[in-house]
Order: sequence, then structure tokens, then C-alpha cells
Amino acid sequence: MTEWHKSGWRTKPRVQMPDYTDPAKLEAVEAQLSKYPPLVFAGEARTLKKELGAASRGDAFLLQGGDCAEAFDQFSANGIRDTFKVMLQMAMVLTFGAKVPVVKVGRMAGQFAKPRSAPTETVDGVELPSYRGDIINDLPFTAEARIPDPAKMLQAYTQAAATLNLLRAFSTGGFADVHQVHGWTLGFTESEKASKYRDMANRISDTLDFMKAAGVDSDRAHTLQTVDFYTSHESLLLEYEEALTRQDSTSGKWLAGSGHMIWIGDRTRQPDGAHVEFARGVLNPVGLKCGPTTTAEDLKVLMSKLNPDNEEGKLTLIARFGAGSVGEHLPRLIKTVQEEGANVTWVCDPMHGNTIKSSTGYKTRPFDSVLREVKEFFAVHNAEGTVPGGVHFEMTGQDVTECTGGVRAVSEEDLSDRYHTACDPRLNASQSLELAFLVAEELTARREAQVAVKAG
Ligand code: PEP
Ligand code: CO
Repeated sequence: MTEWHKSGWRTKPRVQMPDYTDPAKLEAVEAQLSKYPPLVFAGEARTLKKELGAASRGDAFLLQGGDCAEAFDQFSANGIRDTFKVMLQMAMVLTFGAKVPVVKVGRMAGQFAKPRSAPTETVDGVELPSYRGDIINDLPFTAEARIPDPAKMLQAYTQAAATLNLLRAFSTGGFADVHQVHGWTLGFTESEKASKYRDMANRISDTLDFMKAAGVDSDRAHTLQTVDFYTSHESLLLEYEEALTRQDSTSGKWLAGSGHMIWIGDRTRQPDGAHVEFARGVLNPVGLKCGPTTTAEDLKVLMSKLNPDNEEGKLTLIARFGAGSVGEHLPRLIKTVQEEGANVTWVCDPMHGNTIKSSTGYKTRPFDSVLREVKEFFAVHNAEGTVPGGVHFEMTGQDVTECTGGVRAVSEEDLSDRYHTACDPRLNASQSLELAFLVAEELTARREAQVAVKAG
């Protein structure tokens, strides 16, 4: 394989990236960002890689979630706290319910740039460039707002740094202490699942009391009081990614300093394209979205480029086929992986193949389709004897009405009530919790089946 350089992507065909109109301004921003500290460190990315390796073997499970697009005007401590809380609740449901260690990764602190299905958008006969995320241009439908502005990269960096700072504080400062398991409940998650969660929280509290009384909590206390929480985003805006790429002093390898894990989207995974070229040289764990159009030939090339040493935990394949299509596509890609003897972590994104337009005009996702895709993902892995290593989803701790359905049923008419996403529709807290219970049931059923086989 040819040698890699952090700016090597510039000679490759690029898609889904803005054409900045002021090259001098762009260069000045890149120069400034290159001087800023990286947001994450190489040792953290390596630890995450190890944990994802455990997920690839079924010894851990990846929970990756957060906004479709982080937005400048929705940035708030409470927003971050509530998303973090829901992730902790979901992780607790999986850890306690399915008895599996959970690797927690936010789509946070860098998830700003968006690929779009069309380069322009037409409203009432007026055609303008599409909105591409707050790191590139602005959402309002005016010609001025849609001009890409390189300075927005600096604001994105600042927001990412502040977000990560808060997440690090939440992770280690007492908030994530398992003794707080009751406190993570959000006021509005009043539902059958919320009371199921409360029952589980009671059982956890009892267990902790028992452990304390039996004197077994002290030396393990640190594990219970803190949590490892990682960040991730789509590596789309390569000027930003390159500017934050740093050489690791201990190994001499290159770190994408913008987040612990980066992924390549379904629209930018051309084997000879700029995005693959950038991602193939960094030491971070890398995700690759796989959709209905992913071919066996492409996947082979992508696996050897993105994981040349076939390391465990290095490459995560994020399957997003849509409910009803998993059976058609996942088995053929699993076969390709097996033929190559490749190490990958299989993860299910039940969001991006299930986006529809509601009768009321909103982009939405029926929650039933989301659950169905997760079930199909597990069913295929159970049938193939392979490992379902995690889930990847778009969610928020805010009480939004963006996806229809769920136990506190959101109807198509309800979508207009609290539809706040800057891009794709997200699960709200109670839908997220419901998803976690479903995943816990699937994992438990797998474990019981494995125990039965061993005993059999
Ligand atoms: C996303 O994860 O927000 C996204 C755009 O996904 P995909 O590339 O799978 O369509
Ligand atoms: Co999305």
C-alpha cells in the first residue's frame, strides 16, 4: 500500500464536501486549527479499539448514539447532560439485563458535517445549495446562509471542546456513579418501560447495598463510580479532520485528534475516494457504513485499506439496510468478511435505512421499523453463527416528537409539536429506553441459546 500522509486525500476525488469561495480564509482557518490542541489522545483511541475488539467477539457490546447533527443554536449543558443520562440508562439496561459490558460512544463533540442526498434544495421554485451542517453553512433558507464559511470550523472546534470537557466531568465527577442509577431517570419517561427501568434500578440499589454490607465494594469502587465515555463522528469535512490530525509521540502513528472514533458514511465510501484515503492512515478505530449498495468487491478493498493489519476492534461495519432488507444484504456481506478472514465488529444502525416522509410533510422514522431492523440484524447473526457487536442510533435526551410510534405513541400529527432536529429524526428518551430493553432481550436470548448448546 502506498505511503500515507494526512493531506494525501487532497489528490483524490472528493464528494459531499463544500467548495469554499475564499481560499485565503480557508487556509487561515486551517492554520489556526492546526495549532489547537487535539481533543482526544492516542491512548484513549487505543483503549477504545481494544474494547471494540471485545465487542467483535461478543465479550462486550457497543452502544453508539447521539444527534444526527449537533447544532450551534441547540448547544447547552442540559442538552448534553440529558443525552448522556439516556445513554447511561440504556447502558445500565444492557449491563444489568443482558449481563454484558457496554462500550459507550456518543455521536457527540464533533458530529457537525452532514452528507446530503441532493446538492441543492428547492422551495417554492427557489433553488439553493443544501444545508450541510453547522460546521459548513447555515440552516435558514436564504442564499447567504447557505454559503460555506470556513470560520464555522473554529466554532465547531470550540463547541466540541466544551462538550468533551463536560462529558469528561460527567464521566468521572460522580454523576455517572452507579449509585445514582435512580437519578438518571428523566421526568418525562413516564411509561411502562420507565417503570421497568425503575424496577431494575431498585434491584441494582439492593445489589449495591448487599455488596457494601458484605464488604466487597471498596476496592472495585472506582469502576462503579466512573464510566468510560468516548466520542465519535462522521469524518466528512476533511479540512477539519486534517487540521486536527497529530503524530503520536510514543508510536509515531497518526491520530485523528477530532474524536476517539471516526466513521465513513454511506455516501463517501468510494474505495479510491478522498474519505477512505484519509481514514486509512489514522490509528483510531474506524467505522464504515454499509448499505444496500455496498458490493462484495468494494467491501473487500475497503477492509484491506481500512484495516491493513487485520487488527481486532480497528474496523466496525455499521449495517444500515432498512427493515425488511437486512435478510437480503447482511448475509452476503457476512460471507465476504468470512471469505477474507477479516476481523470486524458488526453493528446495526436501524435509523438510516428507515427514513420516510410522513403524510404531514415531516421526515420521520417509524419506531416499529427501527425495532424490526434490530430484530432482523440479530436473527441473521444468530442464523450465521456470527456476532452482533452493537447498535448505532440517533437519539436525544430531549422530549422530542421526531420518530413516530413507541409506547408513548407519537402520531404523524404529533410530529409538529416538538420537532427540533437539524437533520434526521431522532429517538426521544422513552423510545431509546424501549430500544435498549429490546436489545437486552435479544442478547439474553442469545446467551441462553449458547448455554443450552453447551449443556446439550
Ligand atoms: C448519519 O449517520 O447521520 C448518516 C448520514 O448515515 P449514512 O451515511 O449511513 O446515511
Ligand atoms: Co443521520
